[in-house]
Amino acid sequence: MSKKNKKNQPYSSAASPVRGESRGSRAAVFADTAEPTAESRPIPIVFIILTLVLLYFADLYILDRGGDVMNKAGAFPAEVYDPYYTIADVQGANPVDPIQAVRNEGAKVFNTACVACHQGNGQGLAGQFPPLAGSEWVLAEGPNRIIRIVLNGVAGPLNVKGADFNNAMPPWKESFTDAQIAAVITYVRSEWGNKAGPVTPDQVKKWRDKDGTRGEPMNAGELQNTPEKD
Ligand code: HEC
Repeated sequence: MSKKNKKNQPYSSAASPVRGESRGSRAAVFADTAEPTAESRPIPIVFIILTLVLLYFADLYILDRGGDVMNKAGAFPAEVYDPYYTIADVQGANPVDPIQAVRNEGAKVFNTACVACHQGNGQGLAGQFPPLAGSEWVLAEGPNRIIRIVLNGVAGPLNVKGADFNNAMPPWKESFTDAQIAAVITYVRSEWGNKAGPVTPDQVKKWRDKDGTRGEPMNAGELQNTPEKD
């Protein structure tokens, strides 16, 4: 372009952002007059970090309170979603009925020592092994007789639920502790619909001491002479 035409330029050269271009050059015209365009800019990293920090603490809050706000159950009620931090927390939330714990222990002993003869359903085997379910020996109000039966064994004619047996059961006092015998008797007295009270290790100990080193099994007459309860 000639110097003469200079005044026809829409903008002065000072307005041109394109440096190094000669005044009034084609490039300068385009640079000045092009339509403005929207640029896409990346999200500032600080916002991403802030969002992550926020999510982190929100998550901690939910973990800590189960979403309960001011003691009102939120979306994640504490009773359901609260985490347990210690073994004591878990145990506190799952109280174990002490009798149930003893029955569980008794079930273990039963399944090792008694199930083979008296059967898993407590019905025994007709003519050979008497039933424990519904047995008057098992359900007696006091447990003295059944304690002696389990400690020493029992042999000879024995009537159980109207049926006669004449067989022999081995003693268990050498195999199990007072606590284990108390547990298995507690179990037998409360399983298969049986409803008789629990037995304590002390009650078993009393008969273990009284019967001492006795080697013979119990018989029906001796059992009848043993008061059911103290
Ligand atoms: C080897 C088989 C055998 C095993 C094992 C056995 N018993 Fe017996 N049990 C018998 C027999 C047989 C009699 C009946 C004895 C008789 O005829 O005088 C009996 C009788 C009894 C009686 C009294 C009668 C009744 O049915 O109520 C009780 C209670 C009893 N057992 C409990 C137990 C318990 C508890 C265990 C496990 C610790 C056990 N028995 C393990 C065979 C067994």
